[in-house]
Amino acid sequence: MTQTTAKAPEAASFPELDAILARHGHNPGALIAILQETQEVYGYLPPAALRYIAARTRLRPAHVYGVATFYTQFRLQPVGKRVIMVCQGTACHVNGGNTIFQALSEELGIKEGETTPDGEFTLQTVACLGCCSLAPVMMINGEAYGKLTPEKARRIIRDLRGQPAAQAPAAPPANNTGR
Ligand code: FES
Repeated sequence: MTQTTAKAPEAASFPELDAILARHGHNPGALIAILQETQEVYGYLPPAALRYIAARTRLRPAHVYGVATFYTQFRLQPVGKRVIMVCQGTACHVNGGNTIFQALSEELGIKEGETTPDGEFTLQTVACLGCCSLAPVMMINGEAYGKLTPEKARRIIRDLRGQPAAQAPAAPPANNTGR
C-alpha cells in the first residue's frame, strides 16, 4: 500500500471520523472497514472525509479514492431519504426488470444514480437482491417489493410520497461490491 505523510485537513469538520480511525488504530489495512463506518455516519463518503482518512492512515489520497470508487457499496454522493434499488439480475431481467426501472425513472424524473430535487428518492440498480422468486423486485430502504409491474411500481412510489421515511437509506448489498 502506498503511504504519505500529508497533514490531516479539515479535522474540525469530521469529529466522528477520529473515533472511527482510533477504533482501527489508524491502520491503513483497515481502510475498507473505515470507509464503511464513515458511510454509516454521513450516509455517503464526502471528498473531504476521504482526504482526512488518507492523511490519518498515511495513505495517498488517490489510493483511498480508488478504493472508494472501486466498490459499488460506497457512495460518493449524498442519497435521498429513500434509496430505491431496482434489481437487474438475471431472474428480474427476464421478468421485465428493465420496464420497472423505466417506469420508476419516468415517475421520479431521474436517471440511474440520481436523487430527486426534493431529496426524497435516489434511484439505483443492483445485480441481485437475493429474492429471485419474487422477480421482478425492488427494495426501498431495506423493504422488498416483489412481483412488480410498471404500474404497481409507480403506485408504490405515489403511496410513499408524503409519508415519513421509515428508516435510514440502506447501502447496496454486500455481495454487489466489485465493478
Ligand atoms: S435477480 Fe432479482 S432478486 Fe435475484
